[in-house]
Amino acid sequence: MFSGNGKRVFVQEVATRDGFQIEAAFVPTETKIALVNELSRTGLCKIEVTSFTSPKAIPALRDAEEVMGGIERVPGVTYAALVPNMRGAERAMAARVDELNLVMSVSETHNLANLRMTREQSCIQLAEVIRAMRSSGVAINGSLATCFGCPMEGPVPEAEVWRLTGALLEAGAAGISLADTTGMAHPAQVAHMVETFRRRWPTATLTLHLHNTRGIGLANVLAALEVGADRFDASLGGLGGCPYAPGATGNVCTEDLVHMLEAMGYVTGVDLTRLLGCARSLASIVGHEVPGQVAKAGPSTDLHTAPEWLAEVRSRAMGRAEGPRETS
Ligand code: COA
Ligand code: ZN
Repeated sequence: MFSGNGKRVFVQEVATRDGFQIEAAFVPTETKIALVNELSRTGLCKIEVTSFTSPKAIPALRDAEEVMGGIERVPGVTYAALVPNMRGAERAMAARVDELNLVMSVSETHNLANLRMTREQSCIQLAEVIRAMRSSGVAINGSLATCFGCPMEGPVPEAEVWRLTGALLEAGAAGISLADTTGMAHPAQVAHMVETFRRRWPTATLTLHLHNTRGIGLANVLAALEVGADRFDASLGGLGGCPYAPGATGNVCTEDLVHMLEAMGYVTGVDLTRLLGCARSLASIVGHEVPGQVAKAGPSTDLHTAPEWLAEVRSRAMGRAEGPRETS
C-alpha cells in the first residue's frame, strides 16, 4: 500500500493556462513562451499551453496564437490547449495544437457562468467539434469541470458526471478529465469516482484535475493512485483557478506532486531540479508569492550542514552521558 514500485505516473502541466488565466496582471507573451520552453525541458509529458477562449472572457490568455506559435516543440511533449467551442477549436487547430482539451461543466450554473451556454448547448457544440476535428488526427480530451461539487449549486449528481462522460466519449473523445474546479472533493469521493470510471470505461484515458483550495489536493491524488489512476494535471507553484468559480484557488502544485511521487517510488520522468528552477522563477513572473512548498523548503533529500557550534554541544552532551558512569 502507498508504494510506487516503479509505476509510471503522468504529470501534465497547466500553469500557463489554469495558472495565468486568473492572474490580475497580464503575463507578457515572451515570458509565457520562455516558461513553456523551460517546462518542455523538465521531462513533463504534456503542457496545456493556453486556452482559445473569448478574449473578453479570459483577457489574460488573449495572446494564445502568439504563444502557441512562439514555443519550441520538444519531441515527446504534447502541447495541448483548452477549448470551449467551435471557434476556439478552429483557432487551436490553426495554431497546430497537439491536443484539444474540450471543456464544459457538470453543474448547469457553473456552465452558464463560465461558458454562457447551457450544458446541453455545450454538449452539442463539443460533439460537433469532435466530429469535425477527429479526422485531422489531433488528440481530443474532454474536461468536465465541477465533477466533485459546484461552488454555487453544492453537490453535483454523480449520474450527471457519467451521462456527460458517456456523451463525450461516444462522440469520439479519447479521454476525460474529471475536474475538481474549486477543491470540493475528498479522498473517499475521489477513489469512488475513479473506480466507477475505470469499471465503466476501462480503455478511456482518465485524468484527474484537482485543485488544492482546501488543502486536500495531494490527499486526493493519493486516493486516486490507490485505485489505479495514473494521470494528473498540476500547476507549477500551485497557481490556478477559474475566474468564474467563486473562491477558486490553485491546482495541486506540480513540483510538490513530483516530489511526493518520486519519494514514494513512482516514476514521473520529470527532472525535479529543473522543475524547481522553473518554480523559483514564478514569483517574479506573477509578482507575488506562490503556494508551492518544495520550492521554498527544498526537496527532502537536500540536507543542511549542521551548525558549527554543534560540535561543542555534542561533546558536552557526551560528557554528561559519560559522567554518571565515571562517578558510580
Ligand atoms: N475565441 C475567440 N473569440 C471568441 C470565441 C473563441 N473561442 N468564442 C466566441 N468568441 C467571440 C465571438 O467572436 C464574439 O466576438 P464579438 O463580440 O467581437 O462579435 C464574442 O466572443 C461573443 O461570442 P459568443 O459566441 O456570443 O460568446 P459568449 O460571449 O457567449 O461567450 C465563450 C462564450 C465560451 C466564448 C466564453 O464564455 C469563454 O470564452 N469562456 C471561457 C471561460 C474559461 O476559459 N474559463 C476558465 C477555464 S474553466
Ligand atoms: Zn482548473
